[in-house]
Parts: sequence; C-alpha cells; structure tokens
Amino acid sequence: MSTLDDLFHPVIELPEPVRQARYDRLVGLDDVKHRLRKEAMLLATPDRLARWAAEHHAGADTAALSLFADRAPLFVFAGDVGSGKSALAESFGCDLAVQLGLPVHLYRLRLSTRGSGLVGEMTSLIGDAFTRLREEGNLAMTRHGADTVLVFVVDEADALVQSREAQQMHHEDRAGVDAFLAGVDSLAGAGLPILVVLCTNRVSALDPAVMRRAAATFTFTRPDAQQRHAILGAGLLGLGIREDTLAKLVELTGPHSSRPGFTSSDLTQRLIPAAILDAFPTGPVTDDSLLTLAAELPPSPVFSELA
Ligand SMILES: Nc1ncnc2c1ncn2[C@@H]1O[C@H](COP(=O)(O)OP(=O)(O)O)[C@@H](O)[C@H]1O
Ligand SMILES: [Mg+2]
Repeated sequence: MSTLDDLFHPVIELPEPVRQARYDRLVGLDDVKHRLRKEAMLLATPDRLARWAAEHHAGADTAALSLFADRAPLFVFAGDVGSGKSALAESFGCDLAVQLGLPVHLYRLRLSTRGSGLVGEMTSLIGDAFTRLREEGNLAMTRHGADTVLVFVVDEADALVQSREAQQMHHEDRAGVDAFLAGVDSLAGAGLPILVVLCTNRVSALDPAVMRRAAATFTFTRPDAQQRHAILGAGLLGLGIREDTLAKLVELTGPHSSRPGFTSSDLTQRLIPAAILDAFPTGPVTDDSLLTLAAELPPSPVFSELA
C-alpha cells in the first residue's frame, strides 16, 4: 500500500485566507460556484434533501431522490488553458467550509509520479488513493452528517483519462483510466462527503466512460469583454490607471480576426506582471506602457492548436 505522501500532495485544510482570496477573485464562474455549493451541501448533510422532500413533496421517498443520491460525485472542469480550472478546483472548498461551517480537506493526486519510474504503479496508485479517500470519508461521517468534507482534485488529467480508444495509448494508461472509473464508481451512492474534481484542457479526448459518469461537466472559456474589464480593473486597482485606458485594454485584449482573445491568466500572469517589470525600478506603471504591452503580447494559443 502506498503511503499518503506517494499519493497526494500535502493535504490542505480549508478555509484558508490565500485560497479564499483567490476564489473571490475568480470572475465569470458564478454558475459553477453555485452548483458546487449545492452539491456539496447535499453530500455533507443528506438530511437536507429529506427535509426538502418533506416540505415540497410530502416526504415521498421517490425514485427521483434515489436517482439523485446514486450519482457519482464527479465534476469535470474542462476547457481552455488559463481559464481558472485549477484555481477554482483548489479554492472552492473555502466557500464550502464557510457555507457549511465545516472544515474541508483538499486532496490533490500526485500525477507527477507518472513517468518518473513509477509508471507501472499507476493503477495501484489510483486505487490506493480512492481507498484512502473512502477511509477518510467514513471517518468523517457521524450520525448527524459529515464533520469534514473532502475534495479530491485530479488536475491536468488529460493523460490519465484520455479516451481508451486513442491509438497510441499504452496498456498501463488504460489501466489508469479503469482504476479511476472503478474509484469513482465506488463513491456513487456511498453517502460519503467526497467530491471528485477532474480538470482537463482537452474535453474532446476525454474517455466517454468518464464523461458519462460526471454529475456535471463545466466548460471554461476565455473571458468576454465584461469579464476582462472585471479582471483588469481588479488587478490594476490602486495603480492610478485611467478608466478610458481600461476600456482600451479590454478592446486590445479581445479576439481579433487573426488571433484569439487573451485568457484570464494572460491578463493576470503576463500582462500585469510585464507592466510592473517594465516600470520597475525607475517609475510607476503607466497607461501608455500597459497599452503598448497589450498590443504587443500574443495571447496563449488555443489548446487544440498545440496538439
Ligand atoms: N475566471 C478567472 N477570473 C480571474 N482570474 C482568473 C480566471 N481564470 C484564471 N485566472 C487567473 O489565471 C491564473 C491561472 O489559472 P488556472 O486556474 O491555473 O487556469 P487553468 O487551470 O484553467 O489552466 C489564476 O490563478 C488566476 O490568476
Ligand atoms: Mg490548470
């Protein structure tokens, strides 16, 4: 049996201020945030669903309730690079913790062990990770519902859950997919306070068997003008940048005939830091340097272009 350190990055207890701030700064993801909050609430405190049924459906023990509870607690975050998949996956537990008044433990699978000599152990690694989660989940369950919620994030899962039909796939990779599916199935209807989030840049390559099990698949996209305005406005706050400059930056960073628009991370991790480096150490960040940089920096290519 693998040890905890082989399987997961260090487990993080949420809420935690840095991640809460990161969660609050994510723009345009309110639907996903809202949905995750509800799902987690019902997993952690199944009584709530019974109370809701009592109030609105005369307490009927309906087929619909069983169908709901029997789903696998798997959420797929798919879509463009730099659109907040990892940032949301690793921070939404803060919101849950606050909403539910319970600690949330964030488990992140160490996929990095792949390719470092441990490839042959992929299957048992994933199997062990789910076994471990179920143990923790069982410990968290009390007579009155959960006292802890577990969020299990499998980030950059492209290689792991690529379609089993993909030609170049090695036997060991297929075994990884199967182990993941078995793990997810073992959580379906188990009544444990565990949410599994799988992040991938390539939704088209995802194994159909994985997609079919997902309780929801969320597609993350590049920010529209209003969202770029919100991200840039928040990121440049306090630097004395003019409102008309902000409007021009929103325009410059949008899609044009020959190229796509900027990703959210192009704005937060490239444009704004570049403006700081430009100004440092001799002067302040200026409207002009921001405009020049926005016109010069190429946005990240769309993921499929890289493949
Ligand atoms: N929707 C968003 N709103 C605000 N900032 C974002 C958003 N998406 C991404 N970012 C910024 O880009 C950074 C990288 O995003 P990340 O979650 O790693 O992207 P992905 O995992 O989708 O490739 C985030 O830490 C954040 O600073
Ligand atoms: Mg990511």
